[in-house]
Amino acid sequence: MSDILSQYKGCSIEDLPTPSFIIDEEKFDRNCTAMLNNVESLSQQSGLPIKFRAHVKTHKTAKGTLKQLGHGLPLAKRTTRAILVSTLKEAVELLDYQDRQCLDYIDDISYSLPCCVPEFIPLLSNLSRRVDNLQVFVDNIEHLENLRNFGRPVSGKKWSIFIKVDMGTHRAGLAYDSSEFLNLLKKLASPEIKEVVELYGFYAHAGHSYSSTTINDTQALLIEEIKAVNKATQAMCSVDSEFDASNLTLSVGATPTSNSLKLDNKSSLIKLITEELIGKLEIHCGNYCMYDLQQVATGCVQDYEIAGFVLGTVLSSYPSRGEMLSNTGVMSLTREASSIKGFGICVDLQQVLKFKEYSREWYVARVSQEHGILKPTRSWNETTPLSLGTKFAILPQHACITMGQFEYYFVVNSEGVVTDVWAPFQKW
Ligand SMILES: Cc1ncc(COP(=O)(O)O)c(C=O)c1O
Repeated sequence: MSDILSQYKGCSIEDLPTPSFIIDEEKFDRNCTAMLNNVESLSQQSGLPIKFRAHVKTHKTAKGTLKQLGHGLPLAKRTTRAILVSTLKEAVELLDYQDRQCLDYIDDISYSLPCCVPEFIPLLSNLSRRVDNLQVFVDNIEHLENLRNFGRPVSGKKWSIFIKVDMGTHRAGLAYDSSEFLNLLKKLASPEIKEVVELYGFYAHAGHSYSSTTINDTQALLIEEIKAVNKATQAMCSVDSEFDASNLTLSVGATPTSNSLKLDNKSSLIKLITEELIGKLEIHCGNYCMYDLQQVATGCVQDYEIAGFVLGTVLSSYPSRGEMLSNTGVMSLTREASSIKGFGICVDLQQVLKFKEYSREWYVARVSQEHGILKPTRSWNETTPLSLGTKFAILPQHACITMGQFEYYFVVNSEGVVTDVWAPFQKW
């Protein structure tokens, strides 16, 4: 990556190759600062020590992770040392980076894919030696049996587990009121499992909060997430009368539900966590550092808060059908969607680094492998066509998936000048 950096450092956005992915560092910093401060305010207002765990899956970079943890952010009122990863590679590469740079900023990693099967347990065991706290995800009795059969990890400690609670998204996890869930807890309470496994906490992620359209809806879902992990804890206490829930971590969040912490009125939330919560609350989320059109569609953020975009070029124009061609096809934009029409909103490069509502004149209406078809948001006759060769920004529908298409990201300052290149820990 140092070659790319030396080639492009100091260049302005207009001089960058397309398609490429650009990160606006000032917006990224603001987004990270805002989330840390929102969690800190909830802690202050409730008088509870609420932890924050940053999911690094959106950008998968070391420098982005540092910012999510609060380093180098002068206005952040707290830092954190806890992360979530979506692949083992993210964890290993972040720890390698930390070692190489002689840093000590991560001491707590949760791997958010329930994967306690024989193929992965030895890898998780090796990872346990490299970090003070490692939590693995469990949502199946067989996971517990597999951990018991393997024995303690190489760290010598017990396996520390998060049990994943399904919030209705039906992706992973179990509903707290299901018989499978109860059977899992009973198994966990058995002496042979207790030898090698200890419960770190319950984990809920309301993936369906992405279809919310107002911040009040997302607050209601945050409350549901908290109630679900609290109910899970009550179930654990009823299964194992000796169980001490006071140190249990109850981890909740998604970017939409965590964004609801921005609301001034948090009285129901604060009442719930101060009067009913049994364990220790933790907020987790990931996409918030970048944002995208899916997050704008939730009503929690504005388009100009999005911290990254695809840079594309206009290649041709077809006035008779009212369309233009760009080089931003499915390979750079993906086919992700939201209630905002199209595969991305086009924004002029003069506007995209500002903190002011964008005018939306063009959007990507269709994509094939390398072709992106642009259509005007009003009629062709009411819109000035873009000149061929113009470079423009496209706000992606889903940053996490879109960023996965790029080998590296150009990081620009508020003047649109490249200051850095971040290389993600892509794939597996
Ligand atoms: C298990 C889990 N937890 C947390 C997150 C973070 O969610 P978000 O990116 O909405 O913050 C994700 C995202 O997909 C996830 O899969």
